[in-house]
Amino acid sequence: MSTAISPTAYNYKVVRQFAIMTVVWGILGMGLGVFIASQLVWPELNFGLPWTSFGRLRPLHTNLVIFAFGGCALFATSYYVVQRTCQVRLISDSLAAFHFWGWQAVIIGAIITLPLGYTTTKEYAELEWPLAILLGVVWVVYALVFFGTIVKRKTKHIYVGNWFYGAFIVVTAMLHIVNHIALPVSFFKSYSAYAGATDAMIQWWYGHNAVGFFLTTGFLGMMYYFVPKQAERPIYSYRLSIVHFWALITLYIWAGPHHLHYTALPDWAQSLGMAMSIILLAPSWGGMINGMMTLSGAWHKLRTDPILRFLVVSLAFYGMSTFEGPMMAIKTVNSLSHYTDWTIGHVHAGALGWVAMISIGAIYHMIPKIFGRPQMHSIGLINAHFWLATIGTVLYIASMWVNGITQGLMWRAINDDGTLTYSFVEALQASHPGYIVRALGGAFFASGMLLMAYNVFRTVRASNPADADAAAQIAVVGAH
Ligand code: HEM
Ligand code: HEM
Repeated sequence: MSTAISPTAYNYKVVRQFAIMTVVWGILGMGLGVFIASQLVWPELNFGLPWTSFGRLRPLHTNLVIFAFGGCALFATSYYVVQRTCQVRLISDSLAAFHFWGWQAVIIGAIITLPLGYTTTKEYAELEWPLAILLGVVWVVYALVFFGTIVKRKTKHIYVGNWFYGAFIVVTAMLHIVNHIALPVSFFKSYSAYAGATDAMIQWWYGHNAVGFFLTTGFLGMMYYFVPKQAERPIYSYRLSIVHFWALITLYIWAGPHHLHYTALPDWAQSLGMAMSIILLAPSWGGMINGMMTLSGAWHKLRTDPILRFLVVSLAFYGMSTFEGPMMAIKTVNSLSHYTDWTIGHVHAGALGWVAMISIGAIYHMIPKIFGRPQMHSIGLINAHFWLATIGTVLYIASMWVNGITQGLMWRAINDDGTLTYSFVEALQASHPGYIVRALGGAFFASGMLLMAYNVFRTVRASNPADADAAAQIAVVGAH
């Protein structure tokens, strides 16, 4: 193999960097998840210190798993997919490098400021204004590199995976900017430009679409590339994928008010959010079915290919959580589920089952290709990882369903004389076994990530950069 790198070869360096950091942040973010889950079982683990208290570490967990782990997975795969499907190199290596280092700087900023207690108090938008501005600048650079590469493409079509990645990039920018408009009063403190119910609506318009566009649309882009690739089958229906795309992005943006049922938000807005959430089931399942049916004639591969298993099981969890979500958006159901662990179970059905599993499958697919190896170091370890992740997810969500419904029913139980049947502490005691099972499930999931790290390390160690770049060269010379 030649080691001379043509300027037309793909930029795999930034893909490699983001892919490795996906694993690193995955371990840290999920490890922290296990820690805060343990704090809910053994409160002594708060250590009586503000910096290590649950209240400060919880937002660090969400920032690490969503933006660090999930973000790096999305960036690694989108840069890989856009180059291969457009058959051109990224438009700028230096802008891509700025994106990588800028994003890591934002994450380090979160790791420092959140435990110190600096927060806007808006969920998933906690980072104070200097970090929020840095994040905005890095995002614009990402958009330039991604869309610039699409403009320069050598192919006629824009592959559907890129449509999903593109929508994720544009809408996340819009949400981030609008929700962060604030008045800084010092370097570490700002106040939202909105007030009262308007502030709440803007926040949950942001919050739900962070779910819809960050945790869903971007990962659907991933699904549309990696499921057909790993199954070695064309996507089941290209037409369905286009209908899926337009229906999903049209509906998601309206669903935010389901986070604000029975609040000061006008009733019509709550009902609109509920109706849009129920309709959202259709495009969500359209996407899931499109992914699943891609395996037609290839189902037997699931017996031997644990990477494909990760991808397919992630679609099953996607289907499950997008069925559960519309149900929880119904006001009467929400009056039971809201404030309970049911929501937490729903979140992690999506987060572990869908987001983490599809990312893990995609990274296992990509690592050998970007490091110039024929396959991962150990398929057996991928298989072990698959079972740890699946069992861990099931333990997590099943325990939270039981807890959630128990809590909801205990809180609303009323005696004949109108007094509450149970005190809050009694409901908390009833939740204790579920918290132990959740921490155990989380530990299963996180230990699978350690196997992944070892497997990736051995695969990378066996490669050399020349092979990897030659692979990039071959990829661009041959078909994508
Ligand atoms: C080992 C894996 C994980 C464990 C043990 C874990 C544990 C936890 C715990 C204990 C909480 C706080 C729950 C509460 O306040 O009652 C939480 C919240 C949350 N986690 Fe995780 N987590 C894990 C992985 C993930 C991943 C991979 C994601 C996203 C991709 C994620 C996203 C979230 C979100 C969004 C919340 C906030 C939920 C809400 O406010 O309703 N977690 N997690
Ligand atoms: C059709 C799709 C979906 C609908 C209609 C939906 C609906 C809902 C509803 C009604 C809630 C509870 C709101 C509350 O009572 O406060 C919720 C919470 C949540 N969902 Fe979903 N969901 C969907 C899919 C997903 C997926 C796929 C994920 C993750 C990847 C996800 C992540 C979350 C998160 C993080 C929260 C907690 C937000 C918070 O309170 O901090 N959802 N969702």
